[in-house]
Amino acid sequence: MSESVVASTYTKENPFPAKITENRLLNKPGSSKETRHFVVSLAGSDLHYKAGDSLGVYPTNREADVNAIIARLGATGDEFVSPAMLKLAEPITLREALTSRLSLSGPTAKLVQLLAAKAADAAEQAKLNGLLAPESKEVLMTFLAEREYADLLNEFPSAAITAQELVDLMRKLMPRLYSIASSSKLHPQDIHLTVAIVRYQTNGIERAGVCSTFMADRVQVGNTPVPVFVSNSHFGPPEDGSKDCIMVGPGTGIAPFRAFVQDRVASGATGRNWVFFGDQKKNTDYLYEEEWEDYVAKGQVHRLDLAWSRDQAEKVYVQDKMRANAAELWAWISGGGYFFVCGDAKRMAKDVDAALHEVIAEQGKMSPEDAAAYVKQLKKDKRYQRDVY
Ligand SMILES: Cc1cc2nc3c(=O)[nH]c(=O)nc-3n(C[C@H](O)[C@H](O)[C@H](O)COP(=O)(O)OP(=O)(O)OC[C@H]3O[C@@H](n4cnc5c(N)ncnc54)[C@H](O)[C@@H]3O)c2cc1C
Ligand SMILES: NC(=O)c1ccc[n+]([C@@H]2O[C@H](COP(=O)([O-])OP(=O)(O)OC[C@H]3O[C@@H](n4cnc5c(N)ncnc54)[C@H](OP(=O)(O)O)[C@@H]3O)[C@@H](O)[C@H]2O)c1
Repeated sequence: MSESVVASTYTKENPFPAKITENRLLNKPGSSKETRHFVVSLAGSDLHYKAGDSLGVYPTNREADVNAIIARLGATGDEFVSPAMLKLAEPITLREALTSRLSLSGPTAKLVQLLAAKAADAAEQAKLNGLLAPESKEVLMTFLAEREYADLLNEFPSAAITAQELVDLMRKLMPRLYSIASSSKLHPQDIHLTVAIVRYQTNGIERAGVCSTFMADRVQVGNTPVPVFVSNSHFGPPEDGSKDCIMVGPGTGIAPFRAFVQDRVASGATGRNWVFFGDQKKNTDYLYEEEWEDYVAKGQVHRLDLAWSRDQAEKVYVQDKMRANAAELWAWISGGGYFFVCGDAKRMAKDVDAALHEVIAEQGKMSPEDAAAYVKQLKKDKRYQRDVY
C-alpha cells in the first residue's frame, strides 16, 4: 500500500489549516510571467503525500471585492443569508458568504434577468432587455465573460436587489488543485508548489485569479491559515525504479517532475530521467535552473531538453525538441520507458500528443493507425500518463 493511501483526519471536507512558510518569485526581473514557489507546511497534521499527488487549496476572495458588493447592496455584511447553492443547515453572514463560500466571478444570465426585473431607470432597463433579447445570445455571452458580479451590479445601480436574492444566483467558491512539486522522501513535513499567478484585464478592469493571488498577495507567510487537502492521484513515477522516465512539463507543468526526480534520486532509482522543459525566455523563465543543472552535472537527470519560445523569432516548443530527438525518444519508449506530460491542456498537451504519435509512427515505421494503437497500449500499461489543466 502506498504511503498516501493511509487515511488522514484531514480531507477535502475537513481541510487542514496549513501555513505557507515560503513565497518566492521564480522568474527573474524583466520576465512577463509571475511564477511563484510556495512551501506549505504540514506540521501539526497527519497528512501524507506521494509524487504525482496534488494539493487542494481553499482560497478567500479579495476584501475590496467583497466590500464593493456589500456597499452596492446597501448592506453591512452582518446580515444573515442562506445561499441556495450551499444548502446550509444554518444561515451565515453575508460577509462570510462573499468572502469564503461564493465565487464573485462568472455571473450568469440569471443576474441580468433579476436586474431587468428590478431596474427603476428606463435606460438601464432598455439595455438589460436588449441583452436578454433572443438575437443577442452571443453579445450577452461576451458581455458576461468580461464582467464579475460587482461590475454588473454597479453598471445597473437603479436595481434594488436584496442580499439573499443575489447570493441565490451565485456559485460555490471551489478549491483549486496544484501539482505537488516536492517529494515526501525529501520533504515529509512540507509540500512545494509551482504556481502561475493569474492577473489580466477585462472591460478595462484589473482581474486577479482568486487562489493564485490569495497565495501570492493575501496570505501572510507563517501566519494566515490556508485550508488544504491532499488529492491522491494515479499519476506518478513507476514503482519499478529501473524504468526510464520521460517527463514533458513546460511552464508550471514542471511541478510534478521536480517531485518525480527528487523522489527517484532519493530512492536510488536506477532508471534514466529525461526532462523536457520550456517557457518564454531562458534568462528570466528557467524555473529551478540551478537544481536542473545540478542534477545533470551529477548524472541524475540524463537528458534535459529546453525549449525557449520567445528567445528567437520562431517559436520553439517542447514538442519541437521531441521531434528533433525522435530516434532517441523512440529508443527510450520502445525500451520500456514511461512518458509523462503535465501543464496546459488546451494547446500544449494536444500538440505533444500529436508529436508523440508522429515520433512513434516515423521511428517505429508504423502506419498512423498502428501508431495510434501503440499509444493506446502505452496508456493501458500506464506508461503514458498526463496531468493537464
Ligand atoms: C490537477 C491540476 C493541477 C494543477 N496544477 C497547477 C500547478 O501546478 N500550477 C499552477 O499554477 N496551476 C495549476 N493548476 C491550475 C489551478 O488549479 C488554478 O486553475 C489556477 O491557479 C487558476 O486559479 P485562480 O483561482 O488563481 O484563478 P481563477 O480565479 O480561477 O481565474 C482563472 C480564470 O480566469 C480567466 N482568465 C485567466 N487568464 C485570462 C486572460 N488572460 N483573459 C481572460 N480571462 C482570463 C479564465 O476564465 C480562467 O479560467 C492545476 C489544475 C489542476 C486541475
Ligand atoms: N489562455 C490560454 O489559452 C492559456 C494557455 C496556457 C496556459 N494558460 C495559463 O497561463 C498561465 C501560465 O501557465 P504556465 O506558466 O504553465 O505556462 P504556459 O502559458 O503554458 O507557457 C509555458 C510555455 O509553453 C509554451 N506554449 C504555448 N503554447 C504551446 C503549445 N501549443 N505547445 C507547447 N508549448 C506551448 C509557451 O510559449 P508562448 O507563450 O511563448 O507561446 C511557454 O513557452 C496559467 O494560469 C495557465 O492556466 C492560459
